[in-house]
Amino acid sequence: MKFRSCLAAVAAAIIACTGDALAQQPIMIKFSHVVALDTPKGKGAEQFKKLAEERTKGRVKIEVYPNSTLYKDGEEMEALQLGSVQMLAPSVAKFGPLGVREFEVFDLPYIFEDFAQLHKVTEGSVGKLLFDKLQTKGIVGLAYWDNGFKDFSANKPLKLPTDAKGMKFRIQSSKVLESEIRALGGIPQVMAFSEVYQALQTGVVDGTENPPSNFYTQKMNEVQKYFTLTEHGVIEYAVIANKKFWDGLPADIRTTLEGAMKDASKYANDIAKEENDKALAAVKATGKTEIIALTPEAKAAWKKQLIPVHKEQEARIGKEVIEGVYKATGFKP
Ligand code: LMR
Repeated sequence: MKFRSCLAAVAAAIIACTGDALAQQPIMIKFSHVVALDTPKGKGAEQFKKLAEERTKGRVKIEVYPNSTLYKDGEEMEALQLGSVQMLAPSVAKFGPLGVREFEVFDLPYIFEDFAQLHKVTEGSVGKLLFDKLQTKGIVGLAYWDNGFKDFSANKPLKLPTDAKGMKFRIQSSKVLESEIRALGGIPQVMAFSEVYQALQTGVVDGTENPPSNFYTQKMNEVQKYFTLTEHGVIEYAVIANKKFWDGLPADIRTTLEGAMKDASKYANDIAKEENDKALAAVKATGKTEIIALTPEAKAAWKKQLIPVHKEQEARIGKEVIEGVYKATGFKP
């Protein structure tokens, strides 16, 4: 009898102990992205991890996978929908293949003059409308993060839009970007970000477009002789999560993570411009890539060539969305 009660006590202790251990298992979040650590997005993701883990006192553990180490762009969206990864921060140019084409409004050439105009959209009704559209795809939009303004690079100097004629350019998976390259008389080629360096090196493509931070941290300056400050578009990110996972979090944890995201977003957006300025200075310092600044006349020529893409892509993006952006920024077509 004594032996039996002793056994029962041991069994109860084991069950209680296992239960406690299970209750204390941290909630794991995999956060995958495709850029280097030393970029606005790379740093933003690390900041979110830090704040989230500190504030949830270890109840949440975030594993950040930078530089396409877990998924390439093109693969990561499906992985998120399947729940193989819980968080991503893709550039908004990558939502078209998912069927949410309205995001491509951000890709329209010269639609934003500066970060202030961009924020009027991300923090306004258009930004919210776009996030609402993700819900039916099983995705929740958490925040918009900035990278910066894109410039064209190539192995020949692109001073005027006509210089791009006949050249092959790597682009992200966006129909608007396809149309942008065609407006220059170039040939667009969609390709994963992780493959761009090699494609430039081997001549599969002649040029590409990037903000300086991506150009420099992917070492593209080693394989591109010229970088023209066209500032013709933006790379903007949507930080997103698997909706089922996010909605299923304990309410207190979700609220804490939302707070961490708010603060990490402020941090990421505050450093974005400076990170790009530093990257441009670093590209200059390597002496491998010549930076071409545009005269006001040359800039006007790029705009004249590219702005017709707005009208051309109106049916795809939706007139209301484009007009919503014009209204927020004051853009006059
Ligand atoms: C690209 O594919 O060029 C960018 O979307 C990469 C990134 O995430 O900044």
